[in-house]
Amino acid sequence: MEHTFEQYIEKVKELNEGKNLKYYILTMGCQLNENDSEKLGGMLTKMGYIETNNQEDADILIYNTCCVRENAEEKLFGKIGEVKRQKEQKGTIIAIGGCMMQEQHILDKIKQSYPYVDIIFGTHTLHKLPEDIYKILNNRKKIEDILYIDGEVIEGLPIKRNDNIKASVTIMNGCNNFCSYCIVPYVRGRERSRNPKDILDEIQALANKGYKEITLLGQNVNSYLRSEKENGKIKEMEYEGINSFATLLRAVNEIDGIEIIRFVSPHPKDFTDDVIEAIRDCKKVCKLIHLPLQSGSTQVLKAMNRKYTKEQYLALVDKMKKVIPGVVFTTDIIVGFPGETEADLEDTLDVVRKVNFEQVFMFIYSRRVGTPGDKMENQIPEEVKHQRFNKLKALVESQIQARNKEYIGTVQNVLVEGTSKNNENMLTGRTYSNKVVVFEGSKDLIGKMVDLKIVSEHMWYLKGETID
Ligand code: SAH
Ligand code: SF4
Ligand code: F3S
Repeated sequence: MEHTFEQYIEKVKELNEGKNLKYYILTMGCQLNENDSEKLGGMLTKMGYIETNNQEDADILIYNTCCVRENAEEKLFGKIGEVKRQKEQKGTIIAIGGCMMQEQHILDKIKQSYPYVDIIFGTHTLHKLPEDIYKILNNRKKIEDILYIDGEVIEGLPIKRNDNIKASVTIMNGCNNFCSYCIVPYVRGRERSRNPKDILDEIQALANKGYKEITLLGQNVNSYLRSEKENGKIKEMEYEGINSFATLLRAVNEIDGIEIIRFVSPHPKDFTDDVIEAIRDCKKVCKLIHLPLQSGSTQVLKAMNRKYTKEQYLALVDKMKKVIPGVVFTTDIIVGFPGETEADLEDTLDVVRKVNFEQVFMFIYSRRVGTPGDKMENQIPEEVKHQRFNKLKALVESQIQARNKEYIGTVQNVLVEGTSKNNENMLTGRTYSNKVVVFEGSKDLIGKMVDLKIVSEHMWYLKGETID
């Protein structure tokens, strides 16, 4: 007999009663993946499991996988190999989910080589976890629960958040862009936006609980509600005038209690004027924009299917700098895409010099099975990719150091996030430009905004002092 989601949670909870069972989740991917893990944690908590940070103590073990770059596979297979003994000795339930499980060749390998894995779930079947666990507890039969990737995304799952000041809120799932290097559209399906009302309700509830900072998540946040406009669903979804990313930003900005709003990732090609104006007008929206460049060469961008040129990217940055006072940028860059020449790399370095990013997330191109990039013939040899990566890294680090120096002597308004990992007596927070600031102060300041004078810089963090 089939039961509802809530009934399965109750049934597992009954079975687990008094057993003091523990769960462990390893999150291997991006912030969306992290947000999914928080939902898995929420469901497990409701089913009576208690979180442990020690994998060996776990009665249920979940690997939430990512496949955006290589190494992920070896890492996962290594992990599954390692837990075989634990499975045999303790009977730990092993569940594997996330993006990698939407890849057929990986599924085949797991089924063939690791038959002791109990549950396999995909990017759209998180909500089946209680049912899957119930079935495993009852008859120990292997379960594979992977839906068609464009399947409906279920609202209202319980969630156990990792932090009590900052929270991530997924606003859309999937991606329509098919950048030629990227696996995401194949494992996350097409773009589907959440209802504006569901998003606002979630953020309001977070504000009521005392959360101060919200990060809006999606693979392409500035095309929020675009597909729904195209397929006519927007009529039933539109809520209090919210029908785009710009109008969503404006609405979130109105929620009392929330102090800082961030978002990742937007796509340069969709950065319309209404979004730029909303960032300018909304006091709480952070003036730090993550604007993925990927390459500074127009020719490589074309091969990557990014739909903008070097000049268009630079013009967009200039426009934002004019419209939004104090705006700064971070970015993602891939080196070693097929066909990339030394001249193309120079173009990338040129953009890095011109924009002067706050932070650059640098990646070496990694071939992904099933993407057009993998089939291109002019692949770059590994050692050349590494040389280029190091060249970019040297430039980026010298820029970051120079920028850090500019902070010394300034006063920065910082959201205090907690005590420093390395020193219990120090507090840490972040500037709007996402720089970590470490300072001495009373623990009462945690969760509050404070002004700090920056006194020194240390590559990955700044040191500050409170001002009386
Ligand atoms: N949707 C976001 C993030 C996608 S994944 C965006 O468009 O920006 C995060 C980053 O991983 C990408 O921005 C890209 O820089 C990098 N990436 C994606 N696929 C890659 C690949 N095959 N090899 C190396 N880096 C990759
Ligand atoms: Fe991948 Fe491009 Fe979509 Fe980002 S926009 S998820 S890089 S296909
Ligand atoms: Fe990885 Fe999936 Fe995120 S592939 S980067 S976990 S969307």
